[in-house]
Amino acid sequence: MLTRIDFQQMKEKKKKITMLTSYDYPSAKLAEEAGIDMLLVGDSLGMVVLGYDSTVKVTVDDMIHHAKAVKRGAENTFMVVDMPFMSYHISLEESLTHARNIFQSTDAQALKIEGATTELLNLTRRLTDSGIPVVAHLGLTPQSVNVLGGFKVQAREKQTADKLIEDAKQLEVNGAIAVVLECVPLDLAKTVTEELTIPTIGIGAGVHCDGQVLVYHDILKYGVDRLPKFVKPYTDLNDTIKGAIESYCSDVVDQLFPTEKQSFKN
Ligand code: KIV
Ligand code: NA
Repeated sequence: MLTRIDFQQMKEKKKKITMLTSYDYPSAKLAEEAGIDMLLVGDSLGMVVLGYDSTVKVTVDDMIHHAKAVKRGAENTFMVVDMPFMSYHISLEESLTHARNIFQSTDAQALKIEGATTELLNLTRRLTDSGIPVVAHLGLTPQSVNVLGGFKVQAREKQTADKLIEDAKQLEVNGAIAVVLECVPLDLAKTVTEELTIPTIGIGAGVHCDGQVLVYHDILKYGVDRLPKFVKPYTDLNDTIKGAIESYCSDVVDQLFPTEKQSFKN
């Protein structure tokens, strides 16, 4: 399995890091077989797998349930698991308890948290010191969608851009092993990538990041209707799967399935 040292060296050698979300056994197995560097059990599972309209309904138990399946499918791949909405904001003690539960029960390699408040910088330090690597997440932080006022590009003004750069540096100082940059202008992502020694992983953050992450269902067009601008779909499973199900149904109706080939004899 690759480790944080490998990701660090990839950054230094300018070899891009590949990351993809995964929420279950088959997606993890296929991604590992395809040679992905890192898997993210994202709380985006609330939207793409559970059908919620944001990530705020996702629970610690949801994350554990899905991450365990991912680990069974990809035992040899570095797995990052999101800490879900409000599981790391009430108190340091409660945050550490949730982090321990998720980390221990899923065999994760790192946990991801959104933001860089003083409390979260402290939490990053405490988790790191306790042996739990932290991946940070800046820019569009979907757990705050209701505060941000929607899913849109962040840090477009100099002041907010400077703040993001400072936040990223503070996260690094406090032990974060990588920073996800979501929906920020590509020049800002370039600056952050140059200023940090830890890798940046971009999603809607341009080509200059040290790695890229996308949502499994988005790159496959699988169960999603609308794709954000920053996604490039690599196939269209919606059509493939619907076509296959339609064929199955018509075969059953027309008694073309099962044939003798799929039947047992005495
Ligand atoms: O939950 C998720 O899928 C994520 C990525 C978009 C970075 O956090
Ligand atoms: Na997430």
